Amino acid sequence: MAGSAKQKLRVAVVGLGVGLQHCAAWRELTERFELVSVCDVNENLAKLVSEKLEIPHFTADFDSLLAGDDRPDLLDICTPPHLHFEMCVKGLEAGLHVICEKPLVPSLAICDELAAIESRAAGRLMPIFQYRFGTGLLKLQHLIAQDLAGRPYLSTIETAWQRGDDYYAVDWRGKWKTELGGVMTTHAIHAHDILCSVMGPVKQLFARTATRVNPIETEDCAAVSVEMGNGSLATLSATLGSRPEISRLRFCFEKLTAESSLAPYTPSFDPWTFTATDDGAQARIDEALEDFEAGHQLYAGQFQRFHEALASGGPLPVTLADARRSLELLTAVYHSSRSGEPVTLPIGDDHPAYAGWLPPSS
Ligand SMILES: NC(=O)c1ccc[n+]([C@@H]2O[C@H](COP(=O)([O-])OP(=O)(O)OC[C@H]3O[C@@H](n4cnc5c(N)ncnc54)[C@H](O)[C@@H]3O)[C@@H](O)[C@H]2O)c1
Repeated sequence: MAGSAKQKLRVAVVGLGVGLQHCAAWRELTERFELVSVCDVNENLAKLVSEKLEIPHFTADFDSLLAGDDRPDLLDICTPPHLHFEMCVKGLEAGLHVICEKPLVPSLAICDELAAIESRAAGRLMPIFQYRFGTGLLKLQHLIAQDLAGRPYLSTIETAWQRGDDYYAVDWRGKWKTELGGVMTTHAIHAHDILCSVMGPVKQLFARTATRVNPIETEDCAAVSVEMGNGSLATLSATLGSRPEISRLRFCFEKLTAESSLAPYTPSFDPWTFTATDDGAQARIDEALEDFEAGHQLYAGQFQRFHEALASGGPLPVTLADARRSLELLTAVYHSSRSGEPVTLPIGDDHPAYAGWLPPSS
């Protein structure tokens, strides 16, 4: 049975690539969580990490985490994407809380199946979108909540990173069946989640994707033209062929324009600029942000808020509905790119891509 948030939650991290960054975040939050176990099919790695970080248990066997008196309260799944669904289901069915890396699952249909399983489970399931927890972005959301932004006009979302042979030497990457997609699914997914967290759902999009940088199955360049449900427009661009790596999030509203830094992996952090359309509005913005405190950022920011949500019974800081919205965007992007047609959302269970976007040959 999943532990209540009144006590410290005992955490097991599964998959020790980016899982190492999760371990560091759990260790920032020792008043709320206790990192009790690490799991990796590479048993030597699991042993090394447990020794180095003084974590009591290590294992190469995921199933062994699910039973026994000393099992964790919370599974933190950081394995390759094609393993997420089965591990999430096993964790929930064992009565544990589950946190899972992006992309959550390969289709809207499977996401809906997971949501049904979660609704019957004792534990909660939280997808990862840690980029949401950065001071600059949280300031923008604060200004919107104070009604200091006005009508949204245009968002410009850029993800220009670089990946090459060394990155794709890892077996699961670059393949539809295991990575589930390319730059849109793995890399730009954060920036596009942020777009929807600020602007709400997408209404319609037209996408082009291409594989131009690396000899891989999945796309590594994309250009998307978007109409949001709130009437504003957005452009999304993503490539893995840019030596200067940047992320840029730019939101133009009636009363202000907000722009992130270019830091590729921390675009939601300070410094952001908030430029008002007139001096009076600028003074109100500056005043609203004077004593702004965001707390922990990135993974630690998401995990801390997870604990607070369990304690209060409130909504999780990132919900299954958020992950579903990001999967719906991916579904639309791949369908549009392949069909050469715009796609209108929401995508219902009668849509040909509801069951998934992976090519039939994958
Ligand atoms: N949120 C982010 O910013 C972010 C960043 C990087 C990766 N990710 C996501 O995290 C996931 C993992 O990516 P990565 O780059 O760390 O991959 P990786 O290949 O570097 O690491 C994955 C680890 O999982 C282990 N593993 C594989 N199968 C396992 C199993 N059945 N049981 C236990 N361990 C197993 C592997 O041995 C490996 O050590 C992916 O879904 C990826 O998209 C997210």
